[in-house]
Amino acid sequence: MIRPFGGEPPFQDRVPHLYTTDSGRSSLRLILEDPCFSTKRYLLPDYLCGTVLEVLDQYGVVYDFYAIGDGLRWDPEEINRAKYDVLYAIDYFGWKQDLSAIALKPGSVLLEDGVFLPYLEPPDRWPHWIGFNSLRKISPLPDGSMVWSTVPLVGKKMEGPASFVSLKVRGQRKKAAFLAGCGGCEKDYLADLQHGETLLNRQQSIHAPSSVAVGRMMDFYRKLEVEYSVRRAQFAVYEQALGRFVDRDAPEYPCFYPLLLEDRDAVRAALALQQIYLPAHWPELEGVRGEVQRRMLALPLDGRFSASEVQRLVEILVRMDLQGAAV
Ligand SMILES: Cc1ncc(COP(=O)(O)O)c(C=O)c1O
Repeated sequence: MIRPFGGEPPFQDRVPHLYTTDSGRSSLRLILEDPCFSTKRYLLPDYLCGTVLEVLDQYGVVYDFYAIGDGLRWDPEEINRAKYDVLYAIDYFGWKQDLSAIALKPGSVLLEDGVFLPYLEPPDRWPHWIGFNSLRKISPLPDGSMVWSTVPLVGKKMEGPASFVSLKVRGQRKKAAFLAGCGGCEKDYLADLQHGETLLNRQQSIHAPSSVAVGRMMDFYRKLEVEYSVRRAQFAVYEQALGRFVDRDAPEYPCFYPLLLEDRDAVRAALALQQIYLPAHWPELEGVRGEVQRRMLALPLDGRFSASEVQRLVEILVRMDLQGAAV
């Protein structure tokens, strides 16, 4: 047969169902709007972000927990013994869980929370798979999340761009001007950024990504390879100076270098005194017993930071004698 030459390009989608929203939580809500998913029994990791629980609780989802160990890994035997319809897996800081020893339960769904990853691939063996990310977590995008799914989602209609976005964009621009020495003050941009976060935290509706997000997305993916290599180099610097605080090699898209410390909050407070503000991944959750939650300090890997800035952070941490604080 002679292949037709010209005309419209043929295209076979890698994943049959694709959706975009403003945030990871909107993507999760989009999934749960489908009664087929909100009525299932979920198995969640005991190391997770409170936002996930808030959204699941909003939809009255029934869930139980499995343990995450120090290497940020699950125990396949525990998963295989558990009863669930939806297995919720988090790709911590860019590392994926190993699915090879997980017994596939007929009809079960794998829900992959890839908030730290720029893109997700459907795993080989799972016919029912949904993955989502959060671009605002890993890039300069003010909002944006993608959902990839092997099953269609009968979610509700999405609203236009969310109101938190304009505050985030204004705050980001003010911060850029301030850092470039073009005026403004710290208090001013922080107020916008925090106000934006408050609006996002109050939001329960599902929104489409903003046009600023779509525009910046082009730039983000265009420069992704360069960003990868900077992050891998920063990972190596942390690794060499601080040792292996988590027993894992650099993931494909490293976002943070994880340290497990006995007193994470004291170290965070001491760093803040030196103008180093590290987020807690994640604050402890009532009723969730995971140990990692309390001890994790995640050091940023980000092309925005120069080698000397990373080095300064490393030197401060080395002086703090983390070996004594680590478990
Ligand atoms: C593991 C995880 N899942 C989901 C979310 C929700 O993502 P977003 O903040 O974009 O709504 C977060 C956010 O903190 C998270 O850390």
